[in-house]
Amino acid sequence: GRRVTVRDVAEAKARGERWPMLTAYDALTAGVFEEAGVPVLLVGDSAGTTVFGHATTVPVTVDDLLPLVAAVVRGTSRALVVADLPFGSYQASPAQALGSAARFLKEAGAHAVKLEGGRRVVAQVEALVESGVPVMGHLGLTPQSVNAFGGYRVQGRGEAGDRLLEDALALEAAGAFAVVLEVVPAELAERVTKSLTIPTVGIGAGAGTDAQVLVWQDMAGLTPGRPPKFVKRYADVRGVLTDAARRFADDVLAGAYPPEENTYH
Ligand code: KIV
Ligand code: NA
Repeated sequence: GRRVTVRDVAEAKARGERWPMLTAYDALTAGVFEEAGVPVLLVGDSAGTTVFGHATTVPVTVDDLLPLVAAVVRGTSRALVVADLPFGSYQASPAQALGSAARFLKEAGAHAVKLEGGRRVVAQVEALVESGVPVMGHLGLTPQSVNAFGGYRVQGRGEAGDRLLEDALALEAAGAFAVVLEVVPAELAERVTKSLTIPTVGIGAGAGTDAQVLVWQDMAGLTPGRPPKFVKRYADVRGVLTDAARRFADDVLAGAYPPEENTYH
């Protein structure tokens, strides 16, 4: 079959259909997620922590993400691949945003980009959409602003909820095809979802959004430590991988690897 498009995503909301999104950062896992029925893959700047080992997403660059996006596109044939615009690659001007987005589409084959912010990035969203670049918005706990938030905390409580709804409406008016709502009260996410004609993609935003996204290493239980409350762990990949690596190591120490069936003569 063909690739999922932003039109398919828009039509899903019109039909009242929900859809899953996962992050992906390499060809193999991207292919697995597509095979499992995930229609939209996000090469998130969460790669800053999951792939590159930084403490936050702030240090991530376009050059960091380009090869990851290219790998995810090459590893899939049906998924819509969204590339995250990293911190500092779009805020300065619409021209800067277009320059960064064009690199993801031309050099890596991305089909859409995502950027963080509401009314303050409307000019960027308009410029991208007018140039033919589908844009996913991102509101609520936007991790690129962690230094301004003073930590990772629930956003959009009280009057801030009204401002978030205004931002979401502004993104829709600017031509965004979807908007991520991260770590906001479920009631607010539901209100935004009902107010928009474009789909909302929740992460820590309750069950009322049109779509749901998780960082795959959180979803599959590879991320160490206690996950945030919104994460449901669907597997214990960390346990499985630790056990496999330990048994390999033990076999090597014992001279039990490679056995005869894994040996050439
Ligand atoms: O970078 C990322 O993975 C994201 C999602 C969590 C929405 O922005
Ligand atoms: Na991100």
